[in-house]
Amino acid sequence: MVQWTDFERATIKAIFAKIDSAVVGPAALSRCLVVYPWTQRYFGKFGNLFNADAIRSNPNVIAHGKVVLDGLARAVQNLDDIKATYAELSVLHSEKLQVDPDNFKLLADCVSIVVAAQLGKDFTPEVQAAFQKFLAVAVSALGKQYY
Ligand code: HEM
Repeated sequence: MVQWTDFERATIKAIFAKIDSAVVGPAALSRCLVVYPWTQRYFGKFGNLFNADAIRSNPNVIAHGKVVLDGLARAVQNLDDIKATYAELSVLHSEKLQVDPDNFKLLADCVSIVVAAQLGKDFTPEVQAAFQKFLAVAVSALGKQYY
């Protein structure tokens, strides 16, 4: 089981208390779709993903970005059992959506970049270390039901 220090717990919770999932989520998902264009293949039914502007203003991308961030917030509420919290979500991504799990890390990195930009000088190396650890655990849990 993952061990969290008091600082890590407090830091992860403070970040999620501070950020707006309806801002960070769409920004991170659209960044992922632009920077790693092969990730677009899973969102065929989302409509126009023709260029960066189209991706950023696509209402489906905006809505789904919030869904993803709210999914991460669920892990924050269950830091001591992220694996069980994500069991169903992992099955969904592997069996139904067939998302290559390498992509989880790419989206997580985009979340980091957007959060870093929002937090500015408060995103110290220590804060980043706690946040990256959280994201790594979430990514690993999402990949758990793959075989
Ligand atoms: C940080 C990692 C991720 C989290 C926390 C996450 C979370 C979620 C959540 C909460 C849902 C909604 C599930 C439901 O409706 O019950 C979802 C759906 C979905 N996810 Fe992920 N996801 C992640 C990464 C990815 C990646 C990297 C891709 C593809 C590149 C992806 C593709 C999809 C697709 C295609 C859907 C269904 C969208 C729809 O039809 O509306 N996810 N994800």
